[in-house]
Amino acid sequence: MSTNSRPFAIVTGASTGIGYELARECAEHNYDLLIAADEARIDDAAASLRASGANVEAIEADLATLKGVDALVAAAKGRPVDALLANAGHGLGKAFLDQDFDEVRHVIDTNITGTIYLIQKIGRQMRARKSGRILITGSVAGYIPGTFHAVYNGTKAFIDSFSFALRAELKDSGVTVTCLMPGPTETEFFRRADMTDTSVGQSEKDDPVDVAKVGFEAMEKGDGEVVAGWKNKIETTIANVTPSGVLAEMHRKQAEPGSAKNTR
Ligand SMILES: NC(=O)c1ccc[n+]([C@@H]2O[C@H](COP(=O)([O-])OP(=O)(O)OC[C@H]3O[C@@H](n4cnc5c(N)ncnc54)[C@H](OP(=O)(O)O)[C@@H]3O)[C@@H](O)[C@H]2O)c1
Repeated sequence: MSTNSRPFAIVTGASTGIGYELARECAEHNYDLLIAADEARIDDAAASLRASGANVEAIEADLATLKGVDALVAAAKGRPVDALLANAGHGLGKAFLDQDFDEVRHVIDTNITGTIYLIQKIGRQMRARKSGRILITGSVAGYIPGTFHAVYNGTKAFIDSFSFALRAELKDSGVTVTCLMPGPTETEFFRRADMTDTSVGQSEKDDPVDVAKVGFEAMEKGDGEVVAGWKNKIETTIANVTPSGVLAEMHRKQAEPGSAKNTR
């Protein structure tokens, strides 16, 4: 990182999808970047962001582990973090009882444990400096019991809730917490979650460029939340007044293996 007068952002899950676009937004807004993901192609993302003139360092780390998060924090080399965009996460489709528990645990450890461990480490530094922006990628999935995506939706319910609570704890501290809640977005998410045969997997989705833009803008303004897209705004409003059992049955239609054929 060459020019320390520029603001500095850490973006997790920045190799693809929403995280890559969040990193691009940061680069366009003059941030120096430290980006992280679990696979080596994070270096390709860094190279492509550098091509736009940004100062970018990349680290490959499994952020489901405390060791991986510690390695990411160490890679910042003590540089004050102006913005933390805690975005890394993944899903896992199919019925809970048919899932491999190691994979289940990896979802929880990535989406919850590693995410909040990182937020605690960087958040403490921000609170001490009385300055900082935290953007957490939650999901509209946090509003809905996720039949055939049960653990994932549970992790996002945790994250959405955690984000608002942390924001309230940090009121007047100089540190803001913003929850970005996308709906179905055109990324590698559904393929990786083995959900391409589902109705939601085959549906038309939001563009990660647009999702990242509204998320970044909300973070910069210090807003508490932003639901990306008008359809998702309506969905979360309806979800708030719909019984959980009804929502769970609605989710079945979206996420049951083989449900894609019902949409054609
Ligand atoms: N797409 C949607 O419909 C949608 C909707 C609502 C919320 N979200 C949330 O948006 C965030 C980004 O997802 P996306 O849709 O952009 O999917 P994506 O294209 O699959 O990107 C996920 C990113 O997270 C990284 N990641 C996953 N597990 C990791 C781990 N254990 N350690 C380090 N990096 C890890 C991936 O890196 P590697 O490739 O190196 O593993 C990748 O960079 C997630 O939190 C997801 O839950 C997505």
